[in-house]
Amino acid sequence: MKGSGHALWGARFDDGLSPEMEALNRSLDADWRLWRHDVRGSRAWARGLERAGLLSSAEAAEIDRGLVRVARDLEAAGGPSEFADEDIHTVVERLLTEKIGAVGGKLHTGRSRNDQVSTDFRLWGREAIDLLRGSLSSLIATIADRARESAGIVMPGYTHMQQAQPVTAGHWLLSRAWPLVRDMEHLAAVRNECDVLPLGSGAVAGCPFDVDRGALAADLGFSRVSENSMDGVSDRDWAVRLLFGAAMTGVHLSQLAEDLVLFSSSEFGYVRLGDAFTTGSSLMPQKRNPDVAELTRGKSGRLVGNLAGTLVMLKGLPTGYNRDLQEDKEAVFDSVDTLAVVLPAITGAVAGMTLNPRRMGQALRAELHATDLADYLVRRGVAFRAAHHMVGELVRAAEDADKGLGDLTLEEMTAVHPAFGEDVFAVFDPVASVESRAVRGGTSEAALQAQLEALATALGRA
Ligand code: ARG
Repeated sequence: MKGSGHALWGARFDDGLSPEMEALNRSLDADWRLWRHDVRGSRAWARGLERAGLLSSAEAAEIDRGLVRVARDLEAAGGPSEFADEDIHTVVERLLTEKIGAVGGKLHTGRSRNDQVSTDFRLWGREAIDLLRGSLSSLIATIADRARESAGIVMPGYTHMQQAQPVTAGHWLLSRAWPLVRDMEHLAAVRNECDVLPLGSGAVAGCPFDVDRGALAADLGFSRVSENSMDGVSDRDWAVRLLFGAAMTGVHLSQLAEDLVLFSSSEFGYVRLGDAFTTGSSLMPQKRNPDVAELTRGKSGRLVGNLAGTLVMLKGLPTGYNRDLQEDKEAVFDSVDTLAVVLPAITGAVAGMTLNPRRMGQALRAELHATDLADYLVRRGVAFRAAHHMVGELVRAAEDADKGLGDLTLEEMTAVHPAFGEDVFAVFDPVASVESRAVRGGTSEAALQAQLEALATALGRA
């Protein structure tokens, strides 16, 4: 291991850290992935020091060349296990000094690991959010494609997992896309919140040298700078909101996954997942297990856990930077990594699944049209509450006669209300039922087309 025992703060201590403390203290295994951001931030800081007159242009150039060489080393390295250093900031500074000597020691002028880590994390966060948003957008587009193909397929719509009213399969699918659009909008807001430069805050009180933070922000592509150095080093709100976005996305994906588990079961048979996303059983040859959906549903647990854990970690923190904050990264990395695996898999599963219109059609019970029957009476002037009551009587009559609601005779119906006529049987047509709901946001084919357009617009804006 390189760098064992090297710390940035050793001078006033007689003894090194105990191995037990080193194990607790070390964050390199987690923050290793920030090395590019640490190098990028360090190069920008060196330019800032040069502009402030604290580094000569020769020194700044030497540091910059050194950092480029450090980046090459880190690129070639096999990972954090090769280094005994405390964290990624220590690694970068140690390697720099090893390469260019004493002038490397000037880089940390006016800077603290407190503003440094906040900056690195935000640089990483912006990229992570962009990647997540890209994956979400692909999933939404895939659901929309499947919905467009399924505009003419009628299935039961459920409330309380009881058959409620007929809907199109396209409408069901899009009901799972809109929540993800909101997740994308949330992530756009988080990205904006993340887009603030803490560098120049120092450890707590701000940088004592005349570093132009606006120029630094422009250099690193941040749209603005933090306005309070104490808040600058301790603010992790954007990270929490990212964790919330990940948890909420996880919950939405879990709900979609639950639909797929249920609908691909032998009892429903509405959906068949493709072979590429289904696993077999080592024991039971007939099994097609919806593991992709179950794992998606299962992974939502850790996404919620990472959010809850981080909020609790933050809750009791006193003013300024506290080492507790080091715990932020593992939670955020885990949530982002989890979604980076789950989103493409569930997208592939949705793209490759087949819907079974026959099974969906067979499942449609005449009772799904009870509301349509009441609406039939409403169209003939009966107050809805009375119509609801009368259809309730018809449902009971059908149950008593041990037949379906659609098997009642006209006589049995007119016995309940004289307004029923021959045309009442058209009410039991699922397509007519679906087409009658042409209101914006409804399940008719025309409404679905408008919905698809609205979704494309929302996706373009999100
Ligand atoms: N590894 C630390 C973190 O992630 C870096 C900052 C350490 N600062 C300090 N004063 N010990 O928060």
